Amino acid sequence: MSEAAPIKPVKLGVVGLGRGFMLTLPALLDDDRVELAGAATGSQAKQQAFEQQFGYQAVGTTEELNADPDIEAVYIATPHEMHRDNVIEALAAGKHVLVEKPMTIRTSDAAAIVEAVAKYGKQVIVGPSHSFDKPIVEAGKLIASGRYGPVGMIHATYYTDFVFRPRRPEELDAAHGGGVVFNQGAHHADILQTLAGARPTSVYGCVGNLDARRPCDGAYSALLEFENGCIGSMTYSGYAHYDTDSELDWVGELGVAKTPEVYAAARQRLLQVEDEVEAKKNRGFGDGSSSGACPVFHEHFGKIVISCEKADLRPTAKGIHIYSDDGHEFLPMPLTGSPREGVVAELYAVVRHGVPPVHSARRGYINVALCEGIYESFLLRQRVDITPPW
Ligand SMILES: NC(=O)c1ccc[n+]([C@@H]2O[C@H](COP(=O)([O-])OP(=O)(O)OC[C@H]3O[C@@H](n4cnc5c(N)ncnc54)[C@H](O)[C@@H]3O)[C@@H](O)[C@H]2O)c1
Repeated sequence: MSEAAPIKPVKLGVVGLGRGFMLTLPALLDDDRVELAGAATGSQAKQQAFEQQFGYQAVGTTEELNADPDIEAVYIATPHEMHRDNVIEALAAGKHVLVEKPMTIRTSDAAAIVEAVAKYGKQVIVGPSHSFDKPIVEAGKLIASGRYGPVGMIHATYYTDFVFRPRRPEELDAAHGGGVVFNQGAHHADILQTLAGARPTSVYGCVGNLDARRPCDGAYSALLEFENGCIGSMTYSGYAHYDTDSELDWVGELGVAKTPEVYAAARQRLLQVEDEVEAKKNRGFGDGSSSGACPVFHEHFGKIVISCEKADLRPTAKGIHIYSDDGHEFLPMPLTGSPREGVVAELYAVVRHGVPPVHSARRGYINVALCEGIYESFLLRQRVDITPPW
C-alpha cells in the first residue's frame, strides 16, 4: 500500500485584513495544508495584531510582502478596485494568487489578469465564493454524471440583509463595484456556472435601488443562457425584509443556525451605529472582531432549484434534495471541518501539485462579464452577449 505524501503547508501571505479575511481565517487556521506566513496591511494596529497572533512579520506594503522569497502564494482580500493591481503585482513576483470575489469590477481589468496568468506562469484562484460550498460542488458532479439527464434550467434566489450591514461608502456606490450586483452576483454567477457545467453566453438583467433611505443597487434579477442550452435565473435582494433563510431551516449563509427573532435585526443595529465606517472596520481582523458563531452546517447562498430531464435537485446547507421520477430522496452532507475547506484544497492542489484551478482567472473573467452584463443590459433594455476574448 502506498503511503500518502507528507503535507508541506503552502506559505501564504495576505493583503487586506478586513471582513473578507476574517471570514476565511478559520479555514486557514484549521488546515495544515496552509500556513499564514506574512501580511501586508494598510494599518499599523493590524500589523501588530497579526505579528502577535501568528508570529510572522506583517509589512506595510505589497512590494515588501511580494519580495519575501518564502511566500509561495498571496491571498488578496482588499477592496474590489485594488484587485487588478494587487493580483498582477503578485503574479509578476512569482506568486500564485487567491483573490476575493469579484476578481475585478471591469472586464478590461479581468482580461489583464487572464493575460498576466499566461505571461508569468502562475495561477489565480478566485474565492472563496459559494460555488465552493460542498452541496453545490456535489450537485454539480451529480448533474455532470448524466444520471438525471441533461440539465435544462436553474433558478437561484436569495433575500438577505446585505444592504443594512455596516459598509464603507464605496460598498454602496456602483461606480466602485458597490451594491449587490458585483458583491453578490459574483457568487450567483459562479454557482450557476458550476451547476450548468457550461459558460453563460448571454444575460438579460435588471437592477433595483429600492429604498431611498439607503440608496444603492440593492437588488437584481437576471436571465441567463448557457452554451449547452441550459437556461437560468439569479435574483437577489438585500433589504432586510423577507429572509430566504426562513425557507432553508433557518440556516444562515455562513452555516450558522438562526432564529426568526433575528428578523430586522440588521436594520435596527445599523440605526444605532454612530460611525458606520468605524463599525465596518471593527468587523475586520485585529479590531476585537471575530468571524462569528461557529458554523454547524455548510455555507449556502439561498434557494436553488436545478431541473434536469429526470429530476429536480435542490442543494441546501445540509445536503441535496433530489426529486426524481422515483420519488424524493435526501442526500445528507454533514459538515466535517471548516465550510471553506474546499478553498484550501484547491490552493494546495495548485501550488503543490500543479493542478489547474477550477475557479481560474478565465472563469473569474466570465463572472465579471456577467455582472457587468447585468448593468449593460439594464441600461440598453436588451439582452447582452457574453463573449470572452479567448
Ligand atoms: N468571500 C466572502 O465571504 C467575502 C466576505 C466579505 C468580503 N469579501 C471580499 O473581500 C474584499 C474586501 O472586502 P471587505 O469587506 O473585507 O473590506 P474591508 O474594508 O473589511 O477590508 C479591506 C481591507 O483592505 C485593507 N487595505 C486597504 N488598502 C490596503 C493596502 N494598500 N495594503 C494593504 N491592505 C489594504 C484595509 O485596511 C482593510 O483591512 C472584497 O473584494 C469583498 O468582496 C468576501
